[in-house]
Amino acid sequence: ILNFNKSDDTLILFLKDLIKQAGAICIKEQSLLKPADVKFKNKKDLVTITDKRVEDFIVKKIRTKYPSHDVLGEETGKTNFSSDYLWIIDPIDGTTSFFHQQPFYSVSIALQYKGQTICGAVYAPRLDELFYADKDKGAFLNDCPINVSKTDRLINCVMATGFACLRANLKKNNLEYFNKIVPRLRDIRRYGSAAIDLCYVACGRLDGFWEMNLNIYDIAAGVFIVEQAGGKICDFKGELNFPEQGIVATNKYIQNNLLENFK
Ligand code: IPD
Ligand code: CA
Ligand code: CA
Ligand code: CA
Repeated sequence: ILNFNKSDDTLILFLKDLIKQAGAICIKEQSLLKPADVKFKNKKDLVTITDKRVEDFIVKKIRTKYPSHDVLGEETGKTNFSSDYLWIIDPIDGTTSFFHQQPFYSVSIALQYKGQTICGAVYAPRLDELFYADKDKGAFLNDCPINVSKTDRLINCVMATGFACLRANLKKNNLEYFNKIVPRLRDIRRYGSAAIDLCYVACGRLDGFWEMNLNIYDIAAGVFIVEQAGGKICDFKGELNFPEQGIVATNKYIQNNLLENFK
């Protein structure tokens, strides 16, 4: 197995180039989508032909460059090798936005070494915004350093959330938290891509994000980028058992104020 220097620049350069190529496929195919190009995994979780094509493209490129690595993709699942390296891929995060010809969707790719993320990237092709982070080297948007906001009062915060939970028959869902939290904020956003939501927290466009019932491929890269940008990540109890229990991403000033609302 090739030895990788975990802070090896070739990894992040490969990742940045790969995610941009994947984004170009999304741009090319979005306007060509036909009703027959979409399937329903459950009543609200769409998957288009492009989701699958983009994931196949990404997996092929990774397999060629790093044949011994494991891969986990939303649409094709996980290879069962026993590598220390695992690539976690969401080929299109925000498929509903993508299918509805909207711009807020992204490609999200993270690489873990022995279960710890060492680099991650989220690319929003229609916005041409590439968020990425490399272990202990900070987080970037189109190669400019980014940091979380310094807002320290909920009433001055703009936050985002999502409603994946409504796809599952959970006994509790986000609507009760939503109704409790939103009146305490300046405003709320629902962009449609958890990966973009997390990156907007990382660059300070959002002061916080929370959502229930996300999967590892939704959040692996975005969580890493938030942490590398100085943000705080936890579940609704302030621990790290997400994503099942839900995920909270904020700056350090408002994390406890926000968590109060999940008690
Ligand atoms: C979805 C997006 C959305 C979130 C959903 C996710 P997908 O990802 O991240 O913002 O609310 O829960 O499933 O399914 O489009 O890859
Ligand atoms: Ca999905
Ligand atoms: Ca997703
Ligand atoms: Ca997806």
